[in-house]
Amino acid sequence: MSDRLVYFNGNFIPEEEARISIFDSALMFGDMLFEMTRTFNHKPFRLGDHLDRLYSSLKYARIDCGLTIDEMEAATTATLEKNLAMLDGIDCQIMHNVTRGALNIYEDAVREGLAPIVTINVFPLIQHLGNAAPKYTEGGHSVVTPQQAVPSRYIDPKAKNRSRIYYKLAELQANQLEDGAQALLTDERGFVAEGTGNNFFMTLNGRVLTPKGHNILRGVSRMNCMELCDKLGIGVEEADIEPYDVREADEAWITSTTFCMLPVTRFNFQPVGDGQVGPIYTKLLNAWSEQVDCDIKAQAEKFEGILKAGAV
Ligand SMILES: Cc1ncc(COP(=O)(O)O)c(C=O)c1O
Repeated sequence: MSDRLVYFNGNFIPEEEARISIFDSALMFGDMLFEMTRTFNHKPFRLGDHLDRLYSSLKYARIDCGLTIDEMEAATTATLEKNLAMLDGIDCQIMHNVTRGALNIYEDAVREGLAPIVTINVFPLIQHLGNAAPKYTEGGHSVVTPQQAVPSRYIDPKAKNRSRIYYKLAELQANQLEDGAQALLTDERGFVAEGTGNNFFMTLNGRVLTPKGHNILRGVSRMNCMELCDKLGIGVEEADIEPYDVREADEAWITSTTFCMLPVTRFNFQPVGDGQVGPIYTKLLNAWSEQVDCDIKAQAEKFEGILKAGAV
């Protein structure tokens, strides 16, 4: 059991005691919002952007979490500080979870009352990144799944919400096609939308393309990757991408908070370009590592080593 502490509605409690009631709307409806930030050298990366997205998501869901964004930031910093000693020098993810709270009829059955529940926890990135480490050199295999993205007029994926059984189903389908394959969802028009926890990029003749922002979660890492393209003078644009186009791509990759960027070297059982990790990907990953003063790939490999040594 860990010694980590979780922020829970204004208090710090042991991680294993942080529990949400079975009567909470989160469990009843998947009715909650969340956010995931990561640290580099124990400093949160783009926390302001993550909190902005959390508050946009809360507005979309009509939840008043009871904290201003500044108070949320202070609570986040306090959570990180309280856990720094326990993290033992290892970078972590910072998870914000906000539920709507218990449904009215269960008022007597929940000790937290009916107000929304705000929790913040930190978790070392060892498993997350250690398991992903081989992909920085080998690349991953993305497959288009029968499960499609939910159109934004039903549940808007721009709000980072936990009504996400469809992402889970897509993952199961991808793994049925090939063990370890990563799901790539298309939207109802057949254009590439996003992965189950990541955004998609490809290159064609030196230009970087990424799906338009309509039916996706607009990732903070996606934004960072696009900003790095601008900084390095690499043309980048949002586009309607069909699976057919990905077959023509020279390079492809996915972005997400934990791993930043991972190459995609196979798509629907065919190599992407020459099937190797490409130069534009490598240039961007190096620039990202420089930006955060951390060799992102080396860190994942270090965590893989820790996992292999059975030290976790
Ligand atoms: C569905 C989905 N798309 C994209 C992303 C990438 O977003 P970010 O770069 O902010 O982590 C995530 C992250 O969890 C996600 O869940």
